[in-house]
Amino acid sequence: MANVVVVGAQWGDEGKGKIVDWLSERADVIARFQGGHNAGHTLVIDGTVYKLHALPSGVVRAGKLSVIGNGVVLDPWHLLKEIETLRAQGVEITPETLMVAENTPLILPFHGELDRARENHNSVAKIGTTGRGIGPCYEDKVGRRVIRVADLADDATLELRLDRALVHHDALRRGLGLDPIDRDGVLQQLREIAPKLLPYAKPVWKVLNEKRKAGKRILFEGAQGALLDIDFGTYPYVTSSNVIAGQAATGVGMGPGAIDFVLGIVKAYTTRVGEGPFPTELLDADGERLGTRGHEFGTTTGRKRRCGWFDACLLRQTCATSGVNGIALTKLDVLDGFDVLKICVGYDLDGERLDYLPTAADQQARCTPIYEEIEGWSQSTEGARSWADLPAQAIKYVRRIEELIDCPVALVSTSPEREDTILVTDPFAD
Ligand code: GDP
Ligand code: IMO
Ligand code: MG
Repeated sequence: MANVVVVGAQWGDEGKGKIVDWLSERADVIARFQGGHNAGHTLVIDGTVYKLHALPSGVVRAGKLSVIGNGVVLDPWHLLKEIETLRAQGVEITPETLMVAENTPLILPFHGELDRARENHNSVAKIGTTGRGIGPCYEDKVGRRVIRVADLADDATLELRLDRALVHHDALRRGLGLDPIDRDGVLQQLREIAPKLLPYAKPVWKVLNEKRKAGKRILFEGAQGALLDIDFGTYPYVTSSNVIAGQAATGVGMGPGAIDFVLGIVKAYTTRVGEGPFPTELLDADGERLGTRGHEFGTTTGRKRRCGWFDACLLRQTCATSGVNGIALTKLDVLDGFDVLKICVGYDLDGERLDYLPTAADQQARCTPIYEEIEGWSQSTEGARSWADLPAQAIKYVRRIEELIDCPVALVSTSPEREDTILVTDPFAD
């Protein structure tokens, strides 16, 4: 049986949630393997909107197992609130349908405080984070001072872990002019949340390996996008985790052989939220138009997303680093009505042509896009569910993208609605 990894191939918000929800009909298990509630995934099912941050996007389908893997950083208060919101929308979530890895690091209130304090401290350090404590929690994980889900089960361990974290955090907070952490207050909060979270805690690595042996299909759901990857993204304007497909294995505790197909989610143009380089960014009427037609406002922070033309050069790069086998091209409908569309095919760096984005920040800043132009289409593609519904020029645009990035299109999405999706190749096909 094929297992599929879904990853964002740009700067996030490519429409991963919609595609994961659509694909989850074919899967038995849907597992998040990195990131946290910095993610914002919007699903629209028969007009009802679901906004997910920490929960996997398969959670809305009955009879599926949703998994939060060890590669995720989890804010337990946020998770329980999100579960309540979804329950109020009629979604059933129980310890039978949702599993959280016991070795998942917990985001505590002081992680968010530190994240926001650093962002506000001076403009040089500003990344434009979501302010949700993601970076500080991952730092504590590799610093070996984080509290993990399993630690909640034993009070003595919990106190020990918290004290270990406070040695580091109180020193840091002093430097930033923040009050010391209220140790007893945090401990109390953790003791209160423990019995609510622990029923979901499981050895995820074991359950998933058993599911695989039993022939169950696993859908790995990535958050963010490859250009926000801690190693391969536009550092330091990135998130604090590995986002690329290889992380799917370590983020749940499976071998790399568990991955059969990598589906890259690709917006038909480009967006980015927060600071950092963006070669094809449009600061003109075309950029405004993409933002307005695409409703490009963040699901998590409500910030306006920066918009620009499609960048085939970056896509070649992210398809390589994630080993993408096929892409889902989303938001094609947003391009309806443009006379001319531009696609970036390379960069000019000081008179030299490059076919990739260099790593050095100063070089990235000097890269100017080399465009090719393609005629647009005036007809509507909104809601198209088959190739036959697409205007010839829209098909040309999709085919040109395939050629330029050297990767086939498996799915095309033409509206936020679940069913407004064109299936070209089934990623789950054996
Ligand atoms: P994610 O973070 O990758 O899951 O993407 P987001 O949910 O943050 O952002 C994508 C937005 O585009 C959401 O509001 C989706 O409902 C919407 N969307 C997804 N696919 C399409 C599409 O094909 N066309 C249009 N117009 N909107 C889409
Ligand atoms: P989804 O899953 C878009 C961006 C933030 C910021 C940088 C670091 O919805 O695609 P962080 O809070 O992670 O430390 O912020 O990463 N960012 C995202 N941008 N979509 C996301 O998730 C993002 N998650 C983080 O805007 O620039
Ligand atoms: Mg999003």
